Amino acid sequence: MDEPHPLPASASPGLASTRRSFLRQAAGLVGAAAVARPWLAQAEPAVTPAPVSPASTPGVSTITLKVNGTVRTAELETRVTLLDALRDHLQLPGTKKGCDHGTCGACTVHIDGQRALSCLTLAARAQGHEITTIEGLAQGDTLHPVQQAFIDCDGFQCGFCTPGQIMSVTACIAEGHTHDDGEIREWMSGNLCRCAAYPNILAAVKQAAGKGAA
Ligand code: FES
Ligand code: FES
Repeated sequence: MDEPHPLPASASPGLASTRRSFLRQAAGLVGAAAVARPWLAQAEPAVTPAPVSPASTPGVSTITLKVNGTVRTAELETRVTLLDALRDHLQLPGTKKGCDHGTCGACTVHIDGQRALSCLTLAARAQGHEITTIEGLAQGDTLHPVQQAFIDCDGFQCGFCTPGQIMSVTACIAEGHTHDDGEIREWMSGNLCRCAAYPNILAAVKQAAGKGAA
């Protein structure tokens, strides 16, 4: 039985002709396009796309926040919380995100001297107010007395809750809610500690408030 042979070039003149025609046409189209391109360029002047400004994006605004005495701006969606603005846009990660639902106190900051949960505060609503975070408590190399008290009293273990605890303690002392252990516990009850460092936190509060060690 004869082996089938591949078709010789001459055996498929139609195909060869078609391919040559196609190549010629393609070459012609390329040439035509090359010739036509200047005309096309004239007919369709280049359009420079408008720069995309985040502030022109629907729902995005320029938010101005005064944090730790410094005015900062960021292009943020109006739904962004103060917590996310601080951590993700202003490079201030000291304020911690625990529950993100207003129940743990890890995100506590001061707004005009009052403690506030930054996870429940819209960044846009914090404009025009003085915001203080844990990064703003120390004076240069000198720790805030509450920070020092936490170190002296071993008031933390993993440390995750500590920035929020310290911000709450400074406000708690300023509010005058440190008359006795029960009052301190009550007014610090919004700040949870997974490590259960509560006795040492209580001692730190009392030291910082000038009440002596627990
Ligand atoms: S992260 Fe805000 S209260 Fe828990
Ligand atoms: S020290 Fe670990 S959560 Fe408070």
